[in-house]
Amino acid sequence: MKVAVFSAKPYELEYLDKFNQDHKHQLVYFDASLNIDTTNLALGFTAVCVFVNDKIDRPTIEKLAKNGVKLIDLRSAGFNNVDLEAAAEQQIKVLRVPAYSPQAVAEHAVALIMTLNRKTHKAYNRVREGNFSLENLTGFNLYKKTVGVIGTGQIGAAFCRIMLGFGCKVIAHDLIRSETLIGLGVEYQSMDALLSQSDIISLHCPLNPATHYLLNDLTFSKMKKGVMLINTSRGALINTTDAIEALKSGKLGYLGIDVYEQEENLFFKDLSESLVQDDVIERLMAFHNVLITPHQGFFTQEALDEIATVTLKNFTDFEEGLALENEVKLGK
Ligand code: NAI
Repeated sequence: MKVAVFSAKPYELEYLDKFNQDHKHQLVYFDASLNIDTTNLALGFTAVCVFVNDKIDRPTIEKLAKNGVKLIDLRSAGFNNVDLEAAAEQQIKVLRVPAYSPQAVAEHAVALIMTLNRKTHKAYNRVREGNFSLENLTGFNLYKKTVGVIGTGQIGAAFCRIMLGFGCKVIAHDLIRSETLIGLGVEYQSMDALLSQSDIISLHCPLNPATHYLLNDLTFSKMKKGVMLINTSRGALINTTDAIEALKSGKLGYLGIDVYEQEENLFFKDLSESLVQDDVIERLMAFHNVLITPHQGFFTQEALDEIATVTLKNFTDFEEGLALENEVKLGK
């Protein structure tokens, strides 16, 4: 099948090309992201293959349909960037990689916690400059702290297991309770109870209309003073402007984010020689207790293997008319 692969980065091509030897699809790589202005690149292709910052909204989908595209295949688990209603209307199938490595993202959330807490990034820079002082490097023990997990699906569950291993009290909030996690010692609570009790809060729910700006002025006001907030899920779960106010007042003691609501203009690009035209992220970067990583939670060898394997299988299933086990359906 002829596939236009958008937002294709050199580190992914190696994996896609390796696993494509078993499938023999015709993959054409575009560095550009897919949006209304780039849909014509997909002219003559049966499928487009996209990543988290491609914007597949209604106008883009309608244009893709006119160009003959029949399949949108996401190289990601999250699908908040695709208008599913428009895709269904245009009879375009949407497939994804549902769980390429929950551990990769969960472990990255822990990396953010450990770095913010024990300030290893500051110590690394200090020691390289011959500064061996401990001033302002004080951390806290994770043991016996209360960790609140919002969303206990694949990634949230992996995260809960790690935090239980640290000896933390793990409380959670989800629309669905996991009996397995309850058996391991996780306690489900209301959102308000979780917000008021947690020393660390980690977000692992999807972005959708119900979770957009889940964390805002009001929800910050319900948290403990000095709480640590970690977001490896999607940027718009947090109202960033409100988070900046909460950092200024000291309500938020630490913020670790791998995702950012305006990330599509920044992340996955080397802007080190340009001026960053985003005052909000510049303000965030000015806080000593904020750690930002560029959506790299998924970025492990194991996850890249799995993304490439499942993405190519999705093309083959579609082409051969097989059951589409990774289809994203409207309302699911
Ligand atoms: P999942 O679908 O297995 O789990 C999501 C959980 O959130 C489900 O248990 C669901 O019931 C729960 N949920 C839905 N609405 C909720 C609400 N209002 N309040 C509380 N819980 C709610 O998804 P998975 O694989 O665990 O991924 C979670 C998110 O992580 C994805 O949606 C994606 O946005 C993000 N992600 C980030 C990556 C990164 O590189 N930083 C990589 C992969 C995913």
